[in-house]
Parts: sequence; structure tokens; C-alpha cells
Amino acid sequence: MNMLTRWFTLVGAAVSGYALWKLAAPEVVQRRRSPFLDTAPPDATALVTGASSGIGAAFARRLARYGYHLVLHGRRQERLDALAEDLRQRYGVRARTVNADLSREEGIQHVAALAEELAEAGALDILVNNAGFGTTERFAELPAERHLAMLNVHVTASVCLTRAVLPGMLARRRGGVINVASVAGWFPLPGNVTYSATKRYLVNFSQALQMELWGSGVFVQALCPGFTFSEFHDAPPFRAVGFRRDAVPSVLWQSAEQVVEASLNQLGSGEVICVPGAHNRALVLLSGLLPRSAVQTARRLMGGLGVLG
Ligand SMILES: NC(=O)c1ccc[n+]([C@@H]2O[C@H](COP(=O)([O-])OP(=O)(O)OC[C@H]3O[C@@H](n4cnc5c(N)ncnc54)[C@H](OP(=O)(O)O)[C@@H]3O)[C@@H](O)[C@H]2O)c1
Repeated sequence: MNMLTRWFTLVGAAVSGYALWKLAAPEVVQRRRSPFLDTAPPDATALVTGASSGIGAAFARRLARYGYHLVLHGRRQERLDALAEDLRQRYGVRARTVNADLSREEGIQHVAALAEELAEAGALDILVNNAGFGTTERFAELPAERHLAMLNVHVTASVCLTRAVLPGMLARRRGGVINVASVAGWFPLPGNVTYSATKRYLVNFSQALQMELWGSGVFVQALCPGFTFSEFHDAPPFRAVGFRRDAVPSVLWQSAEQVVEASLNQLGSGEVICVPGAHNRALVLLSGLLPRSAVQTARRLMGGLGVLG
């Protein structure tokens, strides 16, 4: 073996080893207990936006099981009330609700004021910026108000709520902020232009913010799920394009509980990006390498526009 072959073999082995480690790493982390939750002070509270269904409701249940008191945000009040009552009964925690439309400025300000108050009082341990929705129309077909509504729910609300809680969290040198992005944030997606762009924003936002916060005791996470069972794909835009869950191979789906488990187990580990599921991590690793034609073919195979959450 000459020097060059040896060098290539060594580099190849190192790259494959790194890729395998990246694919497996969160599962390895999952076998441990959550480093952040295990050290939660008594009386810790979590605020979860979009807690009335899907991933947000799963976050609320998991955190209540850990003994967290909950502030449950959403617009469907009956759903929030039912979940709050269930958490009180089942886990003996305090649970209150806050109803606000995060596509509107006054809705964002309302939740941000409550979040700030809780954080300043030293009670808020975790903020989950989870509320979100999808669209399936091409950019030029969707009214500008829907694009703006999405920017507000995904971006403006996450920025304002994070800004509201940070001073309190920094003062007590502890806190967790989870921004629910998406695997879609790694791909510019036709038919999901604003969606994929807002989710990308959350990834970059979380990474840069964590750099500013190193050593402060506050941890930021960009959670990037792939296809997840929730009410996301039941919304009118998906019904309008005839979206069928069974058109997507079952191996690509995860439960909301799996997504939440991966997120909370990783919080506090120092890793900002959390991509639940080896198949999603493979997609993210390949995202910079896949040619545009491959992405478009994948989209066609997945049954039309707008299926990637
Ligand atoms: N499901 C997936 O495949 C998937 C994949 C990747 C990322 N995600 C992301 O995961 C997050 C949670 O979605 P999900 O899958 O759990 O879907 P979901 O079951 O439809 O839940 C969405 C939540 O967001 C809230 N919400 C939506 N629009 C809102 C608004 N204008 N103001 C306030 N709250 C609003 C909803 O509450 P109300 O209706 O009560 O207001 C609901 O609680 C989203 O950010 C989504 O982008 C989902």
C-alpha cells in the first residue's frame, strides 16, 4: 500500500466513522436519562406553545410526568382545559392555560408578557416554541396574509417569547428553550417555500443563540422532526391536495412521543440540533449533497405537494 492509498483509507475510515456516529449518536444519548430534566428544581414550570394537540401535547405530558408544572398554550380552549385537567389528575402538577392566536401581534405580546413574568419570578425552566402549521400551495398562489401568519407563528412568536424569558433564565443561570423546527428546514422545498424558510430560520437562530449563551446554564435546541403523527396533516390544505399518510412509507413516520423523548433526552447535552430518527438524520446529513432533481423526485414519490411537515 503506497502512502496515498493509506492516506485515502484513513480519511475514508474517519469520515465513515463520523457519519455512523452522527447517525447513531442521539439513540446513544437516549439510553441515558435527560441531563437537564434530572436536575430540575422543585416547582419548575414549562410553557409549551401549541399544546392543544400533537407534539406540543406530547411535550406537556412528558414534562408533567417529570413533575413539571405546565402552562399550556393554544387556541382550542376545550382541548387545553381537558389536557390541563388530565395532567393535574394524573401527575398532581399545576396546569394553567393561555389562549392566543400567535399569527397576531397582540396574541404574541399576550403570551410573551406571561412568559416574561414567570421567568422573572424564577419559575420558568423550559420554553417550548412548538406552535406551527403547514401549507401546500405554491408561493404565488397562497395569499400574502397566510405567509405573514406563518412568519408570525413560526418566527416572530419564537423570537419574542425567547427574548422575554432569557433575562429571567440568565439571572438564575438555568433554562431550556426548545424551538420546534423541521427536517424541512434543511431543504428549500417548492410548495413549502415559506415553511422551509421559517424552519431554517429557527435552526440558525438556535445555533447562533446557543453560541452567545455558552456557559450561562441556558440551553437552546432546534428540534427537527420528520414525518410525525399529529393533526398537522389533517389541516384543510393537506385535505385539499388529497394527502394520505399511507402514501409515505411507514418507516418514515414517528410518534409525537418518540420525537419528544429524543428532544428532552438531548436537552442539556450541549448538542443544539436534535433530529429524531436515524432516517431523518441521514436526510439532514445528505441535505447539502442531494441534487435538486433528487429532492423533486422524492417529493413526487411522496404523493404531491406539501407533504413534508
Ligand atoms: N407533524 C409533522 O410531521 C411535523 C414535522 C416537522 C415539524 N413539525 C412541527 O411541529 C410543530 C407541532 O406540530 P404538530 O405536528 O404537533 O401539529 P398539530 O397537531 O397540528 O399541532 C399544531 C399546534 O400549533 C398550534 N397552532 C397552530 N396555529 C396557531 C396559531 N395561529 N396560533 C396559536 N397556535 C397555533 C395548534 O393549536 P390550536 O389549533 O389550538 O391553536 C396546535 O396546538 C409545528 O411547529 C410543526 O411545524 C411537525
